[in-house]
Amino acid sequence: MPTILITGANRGIGLALARSYRRDGWRVFAASRSPDESLAEGAEAVTLDLSNPASIKALTSTLAGIPIDIVWNNAGVYLDKSQTLEQVDNRDWLRSFEINCIAPIRIAEALVENVRLSERKVMAFTTSKMASLAVNGAGAYAYRSSKTALNMAVRCFAKDQEAMEISCLLLHPGHVRTDMGGPEGDIDIATSVAGMRKVVDQISPAYPADMNKGYFDYDGSRIAW
Ligand SMILES: NC(=O)c1ccc[n+]([C@@H]2O[C@H](COP(=O)([O-])OP(=O)(O)OC[C@H]3O[C@@H](n4cnc5c(N)ncnc54)[C@H](OP(=O)(O)O)[C@@H]3O)[C@@H](O)[C@H]2O)c1
Repeated sequence: MPTILITGANRGIGLALARSYRRDGWRVFAASRSPDESLAEGAEAVTLDLSNPASIKALTSTLAGIPIDIVWNNAGVYLDKSQTLEQVDNRDWLRSFEINCIAPIRIAEALVENVRLSERKVMAFTTSKMASLAVNGAGAYAYRSSKTALNMAVRCFAKDQEAMEISCLLLHPGHVRTDMGGPEGDIDIATSVAGMRKVVDQISPAYPADMNKGYFDYDGSRIAW
């Protein structure tokens, strides 16, 4: 049975991803900091707080020996939404880096053996179009810079894992109507999840992700770095 671990699986895009893979019969590890919350039916709860390095390290022993085809780093924060530079608290900026950049890479590091043991060998990371240097707009200093840093860190990690045939890919989910995206989002969660899954589900050692072409928008098109 193909297996996936999804972070931030208790609400928003992560919950919808977990439900979607469960519907298709996958074994789903639903990672969240509050596993008592209602998760996708049939998913296995994993406690994970991205702000706690010990919680991330514990993944290695909790999941030891289990092949995981896809680790999907979905959880993230947008702490400076609608804030001007003057309004951004430096602690929020640092926290954005901790949650959006450092934690996903540490999670990938903690679970690399699980992915190596699997057939598909995929590490997916949810970034944002707002991270692109090529198409950047104004504002959102903390969010944008933390996701741009994630993009670079994932490119480094991908190079480290090349010999192991692990594919790393970065995905923009679209501007989605979630708690984070707000009601003004362009698309609903189902459209985002279906689009991203079309990209992620085709990746395998036989068809690796090519990062040199940019990162993926939810519709499969490429976003320039
Ligand atoms: N929605 C959009 O328009 C949009 C656009 C571009 C990119 N994205 C990216 O897509 C991803 C999912 O976004 P979303 O719209 O689904 O956001 P959301 O509804 O706000 O959900 C965020 C998820 O991240 C989890 N999370 C935050 N901090 C955490 C921590 N310290 N430890 C563990 N989990 C933590 C949350 O868990 P709690 O419930 O415990 O807080 C929640 O499950 C994020 O990476 C986001 O940056 C979203």
